[in-house]
Amino acid sequence: MTKTTSPTVWVLGASSGIGKAVAIAYAKKGASLVLSARRVNDLEQTQQECKAFTDHVWVEPLDLAEPSSHQTVTKRVEEHLGHLDVLFHSGGITSRTEASEATMDVERRMMEVNYFGVISITKAAMPMLEAAKGHVVVITSVAGKLGTQFRSSYAASKHALHGWFDSLRLEIEPKGMHVTLVCPGYIATPLTVHALTNDGSALGEMSDKQTKGMPADVFAAKLLKKLPSKPHEVIIGGTEVMSIRLKRWAPALLHAILKRSKVT
Ligand SMILES: NC(=O)c1ccc[n+]([C@@H]2O[C@H](COP(=O)([O-])OP(=O)(O)OC[C@H]3O[C@@H](n4cnc5c(N)ncnc54)[C@H](OP(=O)(O)O)[C@@H]3O)[C@@H](O)[C@H]2O)c1
Repeated sequence: MTKTTSPTVWVLGASSGIGKAVAIAYAKKGASLVLSARRVNDLEQTQQECKAFTDHVWVEPLDLAEPSSHQTVTKRVEEHLGHLDVLFHSGGITSRTEASEATMDVERRMMEVNYFGVISITKAAMPMLEAAKGHVVVITSVAGKLGTQFRSSYAASKHALHGWFDSLRLEIEPKGMHVTLVCPGYIATPLTVHALTNDGSALGEMSDKQTKGMPADVFAAKLLKKLPSKPHEVIIGGTEVMSIRLKRWAPALLHAILKRSKVT
């Protein structure tokens, strides 16, 4: 496939929340898109909404926790898009567990989806990214910078992404590729409905703070404005994102605040 001026973008986590909003925002820019996640009906709904703005939108379902399928799905993405300008990682799950009580299956599941799945897809997509001098955008979290109660495995998986992608950036920037790590604050999505509890069952309810968070389309619009300058890191959210600066400059104060705060 020859390179066109409209960007080619593979959005993971496109069936819901941030990934869906980002896919629609790219569609409005005329991008050619592949949409991935597990729930096909929801991906097709996102596809329909994108088709109002671009004709080039494909659905390729995948499970981040099934790495044996990642090369095959990536091959199909290559058939649709050729080169890849943007690999956008928004697939992920959260946790509402007690660190000492969550089963090891829960700990492993979190890393399989949020960390191993994300790096597995990135490795598979590297030749497509190299051909386009592409940009890897990874949604991590404020929890990628600090830990809070009841999110130990989530925070661990997001910290791991920062370590891996900071290293990758140094290796691939000389080849003209870029990595942006994105730390959102509270964004209004159903993320916590699927949160893993101690035994691996889903929490089944929305977090109050997330419900009142920034709308996903507002978040997507803010983020897409920042990405052309290829920033290493982007932080978007409400006052809660100040905790990242406190962690660096006043960690004891942050600890005292977090100890008293209600985590939902
Ligand atoms: N909302 C927030 O306040 C917030 C804050 C900080 C960071 N984040 C991060 O933002 C990202 C997107 O979350 P969201 O808030 O948009 O929540 P969401 O609406 O629940 O979206 C999560 C996406 O991840 C996909 N996903 C989950 N498990 C998967 C798996 N095994 N394989 C493939 N895809 C999978 C889901 O699709 P399927 O279920 O169809 O597979 C869905 O598309 C996550 O990485 C999350 O940690 C969110």
